[in-house]
Amino acid sequence: MKKSILLIALLVTTGAFAQKKATMTVHADEGKQVIPKEIYGQFAEHLGRCIYGGIWVGEDSPIPNINGYRKDVLEALKALKVPVLRWPGGCFADEYHWMDGIGPKDKRPKMVNTNWGGTIEDNSFGTHEFLNFCEMIGTEPYISGNVGSGTVEEMAKWVEYMTSDGDSPMANLRRKNGRDKPWKVKYIGVGNESWGCGGTMRPEFYADLYRRYQTYCRNYGDNRLYKVASGASDYDYNWTEVLMKNAAHQMHGLSLHYYTVKGWSGSKGSATNFTKDDYYWTLGKAIEIEPVIQKHIAIMDQYDPNKRIGLLVDEWGTWWDEEPGTVRGHLYQQNALRDAFVASLSLDIFHKYTDRVKMANIAQIVNVLQSMILTDEKGGMVLTPTYYVFKMYNVHQDATFLPFELNSGSMNVRDDRTIPMVSGTASRDKSGVIHISLSNVDADNAQEITVNLPGVSMKSVSGEILTSKNLTDHNTFSNPDVVKLAAFTGAKISGNTLNVKLPAKSIVTLEVK
Ligand code: AHR
Repeated sequence: MKKSILLIALLVTTGAFAQKKATMTVHADEGKQVIPKEIYGQFAEHLGRCIYGGIWVGEDSPIPNINGYRKDVLEALKALKVPVLRWPGGCFADEYHWMDGIGPKDKRPKMVNTNWGGTIEDNSFGTHEFLNFCEMIGTEPYISGNVGSGTVEEMAKWVEYMTSDGDSPMANLRRKNGRDKPWKVKYIGVGNESWGCGGTMRPEFYADLYRRYQTYCRNYGDNRLYKVASGASDYDYNWTEVLMKNAAHQMHGLSLHYYTVKGWSGSKGSATNFTKDDYYWTLGKAIEIEPVIQKHIAIMDQYDPNKRIGLLVDEWGTWWDEEPGTVRGHLYQQNALRDAFVASLSLDIFHKYTDRVKMANIAQIVNVLQSMILTDEKGGMVLTPTYYVFKMYNVHQDATFLPFELNSGSMNVRDDRTIPMVSGTASRDKSGVIHISLSNVDADNAQEITVNLPGVSMKSVSGEILTSKNLTDHNTFSNPDVVKLAAFTGAKISGNTLNVKLPAKSIVTLEVK
């Protein structure tokens, strides 16, 4: 008798009797916090084929381009509504000398990209090319400055070059190089991963350096900088503590990096060849970002109880083995339906903490790690499952977060983590339309979700769905539409309730009017 009870309990917690019903109550009248659109930020590093071949092909390329920018990528990014783009790194930022990337292209010196495969960087994509690109796709630039191997003077002059409208030496140099008016640059990162590739510093030392470098990042004209200190890697709470203790008054934001990765040595696993167990492990690791964020926030709250300083998760996403046959160090990986779930679950989490989490930048935008877009050298382009999550979710940008309770079954996964079978989020946009996103992470079972919206009188519901036959499904250049968005008709209104039938392994966004 006891044994059978134990067996049932075991089966329930391991998911063998996965619960197929879930309930969600959305408090549509209790929304207070706006989801900053910057949560949907992107990151572009001089790494592999992110910039060269991904964004930039040059004016003389046979690949269709506008002033050197790949036309297909540009259009796809415009459609995605990218709110902010971080550049030029990553690790690359702390070896980048911006003056090498301005002026006539044939005079720009070359350098070795030591972090990323020893590739020769010809500096043909520099400050003008980046900031003009941001203007073209309607995105806010986030410049990552060099603390590790750069000087205070260099960083100060970069800010002047980009943002000064006066008769100043750097503004005049910019004019000489073809740009009369300054660009608007709000976000400036003072170093990247200063505990690692950005200088291998102790937090005490970096805190002092941060204070010094940021002093000379000036506000020119009406440009107002938002200064970001290089923050911790995932579980390094001491870094946050020391930075907050010693430099809180000098910063507007503090960053955090969190990758969904098995570990830093040995194989990280294939992006497309994995088991169901690997899939569930991945989701467990991805959502562990929530307690990590909570702990960093708790430390920040002690020093900044009014939440003036933003926590910026300016690198996050999956990190798999590089695709076989690609250049080592270029971090080119495929992107399967599994990655789409990492995206949706992470965004669901970020939405909950936007009183502190003010930006997030998935790594990276094209051809590197968990990218939105893959390109090849022949002019082919593929939109990834992650692209489609960002597209489906962009209705939440700048919308008011609606508090909710969501009850579903859960499952214990490898490494002693527990994942809920359904994840979700909800918001109301400026025109009053409610959007509800739901992810059924269950690989095998459909879920019936009863969504209660007390006090909301609903007239119509429509939606989009992202799913595929297999978790490993992904889009390739020869088969680009394996995983893509489709219309969703599985939600029905009944009074104040929505009855939603979510197929196994699917992600949905509903629009409720
Ligand atoms: O995104 C790839 C690398 O990961 C970045 O350059 C670095 O900041 C992080 O370690």
